[in-house]
Amino acid sequence: MALHKENILVVDDDIHILELLSRQLKSLDYHVYKAISVKEALYILRDSTVDLLITDIQMPEVDGLQLLKYANEHYPLMPKLVVTGYPSVDGALEVIKTGAIDYLTKPFTKVELKKSIDKAFNNKEKQSSSTKSDIKFEGMVGSSSAFQDILNIIDRVRDNRATVLITGESGTGKELVARAIHYSGKFSKGPFIAVNCGAIPESLQEAELFGYMKGAFTGANENRGGFFQAAEGGTLFLDEIGAAGLAVQTKLLRALQEKEITRVGSRKLEKVEIRIVAATNVNLLEEIKNKNFREDLYYRLTVVEINVPPLRERKTDIPLLVEKFLRKYGVEYKDRLPRISSVALEILERYPWPGNIRELENIVQRMVIMSDGPIGVEDIPEFLKYQIDFPQKGLVPLREMEKEYIKKVLLHTKGNKTKAAEILQIDRKTLRDKLD
Ligand SMILES: Nc1ncnc2c1ncn2[C@@H]1O[C@H](COP(=O)(O)OP(=O)(O)OP(=O)(O)O)[C@@H](O)[C@H]1O
Ligand SMILES: [Mg+2]
Repeated sequence: MALHKENILVVDDDIHILELLSRQLKSLDYHVYKAISVKEALYILRDSTVDLLITDIQMPEVDGLQLLKYANEHYPLMPKLVVTGYPSVDGALEVIKTGAIDYLTKPFTKVELKKSIDKAFNNKEKQSSSTKSDIKFEGMVGSSSAFQDILNIIDRVRDNRATVLITGESGTGKELVARAIHYSGKFSKGPFIAVNCGAIPESLQEAELFGYMKGAFTGANENRGGFFQAAEGGTLFLDEIGAAGLAVQTKLLRALQEKEITRVGSRKLEKVEIRIVAATNVNLLEEIKNKNFREDLYYRLTVVEINVPPLRERKTDIPLLVEKFLRKYGVEYKDRLPRISSVALEILERYPWPGNIRELENIVQRMVIMSDGPIGVEDIPEFLKYQIDFPQKGLVPLREMEKEYIKKVLLHTKGNKTKAAEILQIDRKTLRDKLD
């Protein structure tokens, strides 16, 4: 019997097939997750570790092809297997194009099922050893060169224990980068432990991080490990490292240099095998100047530095992010994939996003909830429309001016072309031509 049970997610709208498959898989000693719709499957994918996806194609509402497309984008390394009752030539072709590896026609025997699963897992091994650089991490999307640079650094550090410092404004995706380093790399079998230093009072930081001995302080009723011990073999993510007090900074420095820690109330050295990833949205160099942060610790932390630029400096990432969040919330709230008009998307591309990706995600979520059809200019919150910037530096050709002005008027009329034509004092057809 296998020691490690693989997790298989089975998606089929037919409850009988779902049960049958699940029984067969369990008897083959796999752990099974069942989903009777794509929507349910997405929840499971998000919350669990799935080693293989087995899905039906023909399903009401969102079909299996959409699920495969989503899974290929977000979990490119997870093998996928298609089970269907309608093996049409076109269907098969489409499935192969989405990257699904094998194709099983209902009804099938347990032996056939086992064969397909083995093949899927074998292909995975081949794939992961050959396509290293174009792996997409942890559902991260983006197309800007800044984003590509980040992926390249992740690729370089994920298989070693070099300490990484991630810097960037709030909401830019620092934690996601930290998770990507861990979960895509060699130590992903170990734990990922995230600690928000800003949330722990300074007086408790040492005990929380390094653990303590019974009797070390009032309330220490037993020997306890801290976050360092909990992260053994994996990654310790020290978020808001700027909030670590000076006392704990001294101990952190030691831990990084010697890979050794001591619990509060003990002198015994404990070896730790972990990778440390830290993040900050404050400028640590300023903190060093103000004597709030140790310079030597700063240099220990920045063996590798990843700066995640604000969204306004990588606006070409916006369309992909919008699409990702439309899909996420569309499936969650509306059971469909909402579309967005190009004018609406352009407004989103021009807004400066002070809250970065987190703000973008919130706005998209809100628009999905509030709108019924495709998302248009009228669904964009008012405050946002008034803050978009038009390029006003220098002189521009009349055509460009006209284009910008028409867009501005359309914004004002919330996309209503009749009203816009009235304001511009041109007829609707002229406006339509200009829009084309
Ligand atoms: N490249 C990306 N693709 C898709 N989603 C992203 C990307 N970057 C960030 N996000 C999403 O944006 C949100 C904010 O990201 P995250 O929490 O990692 O930011 P942060 O930099 O840690 O923010 P803070 O400094 O406020 O803690 C999360 O929901 C995250 O999943
Ligand atoms: Mg964070």
